[in-house]
Amino acid sequence: MKKILITGGAGYIGSHTAVELVNSGFEPIIIDDLSNSNADVIDRLEEITGKRLAFYLGDCSDRGLLDKIAAEHELSGVIHFAAFKAVGESTKLPLKYYHNNVGSLLVLLDFMKDKGIKDLVFSSSCTVYGQADELPVTEETPRKDAESPYGNTKKICEDILKDFVASKPGIRVISLRYFNPIGAHPSAKIGELPSGIPSNLVPFVTQVAAGIRERVTIFGDDYDTVDGTCVRDYIHVVDLADAHVKALAFLEKQPVDSYEVFNVGTGNGNTVLEVIQTFEKVNGLKLNYQIGPRRPGDVVKIWADTQKINKVLGWYPKFTLEDSLRDSWNWEKSLRK
Ligand code: NAD
Ligand code: WQD
Repeated sequence: MKKILITGGAGYIGSHTAVELVNSGFEPIIIDDLSNSNADVIDRLEEITGKRLAFYLGDCSDRGLLDKIAAEHELSGVIHFAAFKAVGESTKLPLKYYHNNVGSLLVLLDFMKDKGIKDLVFSSSCTVYGQADELPVTEETPRKDAESPYGNTKKICEDILKDFVASKPGIRVISLRYFNPIGAHPSAKIGELPSGIPSNLVPFVTQVAAGIRERVTIFGDDYDTVDGTCVRDYIHVVDLADAHVKALAFLEKQPVDSYEVFNVGTGNGNTVLEVIQTFEKVNGLKLNYQIGPRRPGDVVKIWADTQKINKVLGWYPKFTLEDSLRDSWNWEKSLRK
């Protein structure tokens, strides 16, 4: 059974990926400092998979800890989720973001090269495209200047990976550019845990539905889109998790010193209003919402061209927007119990 180190494996996307890895016969080894997650996720993972996963509490930039893990487990790959991801906070505390997001990647790459661990899947983001000139965006669409220090860390990490692979270190790398992950595990045992006031749309919507917040403000309805609200490509987190399994399977067959980038989205764009109306419909409730001003820095519309991941990895999303919004709501309800 191949052992895969999952940095940030107690977090939102990492925990769902741990489940899909177990389902596909991999053995995930989790390292997480719990800076944005809870230790009980490991219990939840056991409830879902029937397996107690190896868990190391600590910083994935801690080389001593990484060496200890490598001494205890023969690792064949790494999926690097660990990062800070709050766009607004990154503009106030840019160095916190550069240290953690870029610094951790540097430590991991040294570690992998030294230990002969070949396979790396890196969490990148559609944020690297900014407002693209043409839609949908393909992996060849030029990246734009980042709108935030957070976004810049993803661009820099992609560049580091490309340069490192070009130096022939003997590793093979995939960057997955996630579009907008939403939803939760259908068991409602794991999901997203936003700290404080959510800045992302769907956690805000579920908190309003749960009565924790009064109303959703739609950030602008005068954009050049079908109903005037912004368009995004919302992808169910379990589908996204599955893309990591497919990425690892693909890497195994690749020559070393290769680097590939894949978009992970559904290929469809939905407006903010469509998300709200679909949420109301699938969950049979009314949501209190209002139209507010535009949010500075928002791109107007973006969705993925997914032909590359469909053809090369054989990956296709299985969940619909309806599924995602039902699972998000079930997760929110389970949290409030
Ligand atoms: P998350 O915050 O839920 O998970 C990240 C996990 O990493 C958390 O459990 C946190 O405690 C941990 N962590 C952070 N720094 C660490 C460190 N130095 N050492 C060990 N653990 C550390 O976030 P997520 O939504 O699951 O995102 C995972 C990755 O995907 C991140 O790299 C993020 O930038 C990227 N991404 C997320 C989205 C999104 O909308 N959620 C979109 C695109 C890309
Ligand atoms: C979605 C849409 C908002 C909240 C962010 C990061 C990006 C990536 C994904 C990591 C937008 C609108 C939102 C609200 C609203 N993360 N909205 N009212 O902005 O696409 O991307 O998460 O890499 O880097 O920037 O996601 O969920 O914040 O917004 O109207 O209260 O919902 O304007 O159109 P976004 P989001």
